[in-house]
Amino acid sequence: MNQVIDTLLSHRSIRKFSDEPISTEQLAQILDCARSASSSSFIQCTSVIRITDSDKRAKLATLAGNQAYVEQAAEFLVWCADFNRHLAVKPDARVGYTEQTLIGAVDTALMAQNAWWQQNRWDWAGSI
Ligand SMILES: Cc1cc2nc3c(=O)[nH]c(=O)nc-3n(C[C@H](O)[C@H](O)[C@H](O)COP(=O)(O)O)c2cc1C
Repeated sequence: MNQVIDTLLSHRSIRKFSDEPISTEQLAQILDCARSASSSSFIQCTSVIRITDSDKRAKLATLAGNQAYVEQAAEFLVWCADFNRHLAVKPDARVGYTEQTLIGAVDTALMAQNAWWQQNRWDWAGSI
């Protein structure tokens, strides 16, 4: 068994976190890993919003169905399918088709999953 298979097989969702901060280096590497995910036509139609404001985190925790860890975890990243950059580069770009919505959701999920892989490399740092 190699480390990749071992990590896949030991996957589990974490819903309790310590307040141990995530280092700048680790956060940068998480985002680098996310950026390395496959994306349809390499359009990378994802934006990641890092929420550091505790009031906003509390509101988001409520909006997410009272999921306390949204407020408690050392970092909270919101992963968004986002075509705004494409419109900034080409204002008359035709966006909004069903296929693009699906591509946005799939690409964004792949990026978030890549970030998850990186987190696991750090030996469940921050989770209890
Ligand atoms: C698309 C998707 C959305 C999910 N949303 C949430 C969520 O909002 N809150 C949560 O605690 N877990 C969420 N999960 C995690 C699942 O509940 C979890 O993966 C599933 O119960 C299996 O448990 P495991 O990940 O420990 O194997 C989500 C998983 C997927 C794939």
